[in-house]
Amino acid sequence: VARDLARLETPALVLDGAILEANVHRMRARVERLGVRFRPHVKTHKCLEIARLAAGGASETSPITVSTLREADFFAAAGFTDVLYAVGLAPNKLDHVVALLRRGVDLKVLIDNLATARLLVAHARAAGVPIPVLIEIDCDGHRAGVRAGDPLLLELAAELARGQVELRGVLTHAGASYDCKGTEEIRAAAAAERDSVVQAAESLRAAGHPVSIVSVGSTPTAIFAPDLTGVTELRAGVFPFFDLVMHGLGVCRLEELALSVLTSVIGHQPEKGWALVDAGWMALSRDRGTSTQQVDQGYGRVCDLAGRPLHDWVVSATNQEHGIVTSRAGAPLSPESLPVGTLLRILPNHACATAAQHDRYHVVRGATAIEEVWPRFRGW
Ligand SMILES: Cc1ncc(COP(=O)(O)O)c(C=O)c1O
Repeated sequence: VARDLARLETPALVLDGAILEANVHRMRARVERLGVRFRPHVKTHKCLEIARLAAGGASETSPITVSTLREADFFAAAGFTDVLYAVGLAPNKLDHVVALLRRGVDLKVLIDNLATARLLVAHARAAGVPIPVLIEIDCDGHRAGVRAGDPLLLELAAELARGQVELRGVLTHAGASYDCKGTEEIRAAAAAERDSVVQAAESLRAAGHPVSIVSVGSTPTAIFAPDLTGVTELRAGVFPFFDLVMHGLGVCRLEELALSVLTSVIGHQPEKGWALVDAGWMALSRDRGTSTQQVDQGYGRVCDLAGRPLHDWVVSATNQEHGIVTSRAGAPLSPESLPVGTLLRILPNHACATAAQHDRYHVVRGATAIEEVWPRFRGW
């Protein structure tokens, strides 16, 4: 087992534990100041060590958000039994949901349509197990959910009230905050996120339905939300790592990116001014989240082995196992400046997507010594 990044076979995923801890502390302090409960999303890291850190280290009974039932299985087995599955429920997952509930997991599922509400009612009745549910609210037209003022909201609650389904509350996710231009727009997105879910909670309560959970969250809105009156909990996912998309939005500094992919220079095309590396889209992911931002970072920003950004170099193109490193301004890269075998670290556009390409984190702390190796899992 390599003890230093300089001896690791590439490509490999590197996590700076000192930056990770600082990012987690920053978010936890922010959530505390906002006066809401924290329900961190584990989908970004899928790693027990990081889930424990995000939970404040103290207790594994603290709430989490998951994006797959595999995450629910894994983290519940480790003691995280207050789980919110924050993706609309597919009918073929109902048996799995019931099995988790029978194991004592307080699993809350998400719906936004009458067809799923009816299936849930029928399934809960047949299984004899009450199923806790949140209704998804669409705060920005980004993806799924019911608009707060849509009569469907009360129809859904009425349908759920027919069976052994416990309406726990409402959830929204300001996914459109990723497309904001500047922090003022993110503040407005945070206010819209809060207003829509609080409005939905109030109309449900006015119609006599119980609402104990009012859940918001995305990393940009969590960082810039001025006030969360009426909200009970906040979810955030990418904040432990941050990434180039978050940096482009003004959510974090480049030095706060905790994740990178270690890669080796494997050749050059001097007449084209390219260096070739062994990190292609398999190691970096195909994510091009910065392509619509002011600074397009290609498939990732190139740093030296110590994690310091090098000039304006980016991975501008990828194949499965090849990356092409170029200067953003077009200045040619000479083979002398990056000899074959040079180790580089690539900062990712989207940390969730890049981490998902790997099965372990090599944890360093501001240096190249590997202090720990943390496993992570993938798939469903
Ligand atoms: C429903 C839901 N909640 C919370 C999050 C966390 O968002 P972020 O990664 O910006 O913190 C996501 C991310 O996709 C999500 O889909």
